[in-house]
Amino acid sequence: MIKKNTFEYFEKNGFMKINLDKKYLKDYLNLKHTIKKSFSKNFKNNSFENFHSNVSFDQINNLRMRIIVKINKVKKINEKIYLSAKKILNQMVGPDIIVQKNINLAIQMPNDSSRALFHKDTPLSSHHEVVMWVPLVNCKKTMCMKMIPKKFHDKADNLLIQTNEKIHEKFAEKYGVTIPINFGEALIFNTDNFHYIPINKTSKTRWSLNVRFKNLFTPYGERNLLDYYQIIDSSPISNLLKN
Ligand SMILES: [Fe+2]
Repeated sequence: MIKKNTFEYFEKNGFMKINLDKKYLKDYLNLKHTIKKSFSKNFKNNSFENFHSNVSFDQINNLRMRIIVKINKVKKINEKIYLSAKKILNQMVGPDIIVQKNINLAIQMPNDSSRALFHKDTPLSSHHEVVMWVPLVNCKKTMCMKMIPKKFHDKADNLLIQTNEKIHEKFAEKYGVTIPINFGEALIFNTDNFHYIPINKTSKTRWSLNVRFKNLFTPYGERNLLDYYQIIDSSPISNLLKN
């Protein structure tokens, strides 16, 4: 059983770092192996961290889309990701839980300026939803997203009217939190949380998966259950009633 104060930081700020269940780390290692084997031409002999050595900014998005297709063909990949954080997720959003059908992958190569702008995932996502962000490599400094704590959200909401990226960057620098996340760990954040993706100024490529979870019975955003999610776990009372 997870201790109650495990969620103190999350309840205050809207995000937290977690350790993935070691039992399921092999699934992530297998996934990395599958990616490397399927895209060996692009990897050459490089590691995930050095993927940029042979890939240009022009190629990366197309390649990323092809890797996403491959990842989503891995049998029960979203169930495997769920199991690696099940204990936390079940306490955070409840035992009747749904998961995004398709896993996303972000690849942020050093100095590549193309990335999502400062944003939050609501109202497209439900307010009752969390994103699980799982790096496939160790991430620190500008490989990490800047997370804006809940107490600054009103300020951030006003800022969204501005489209100037420099202003967003300045805001994220001032109020954002950088949490180093290693392979084997994950960041969980509420979809209401603003996040800023800096230009990766390190010498390593950042690889990260992201997938969304919510309780089956909480209000939805603009995405509906059947199109976007699948039920991944259910409570004994729900099981009783559906039989
Ligand atoms: Fe986002």
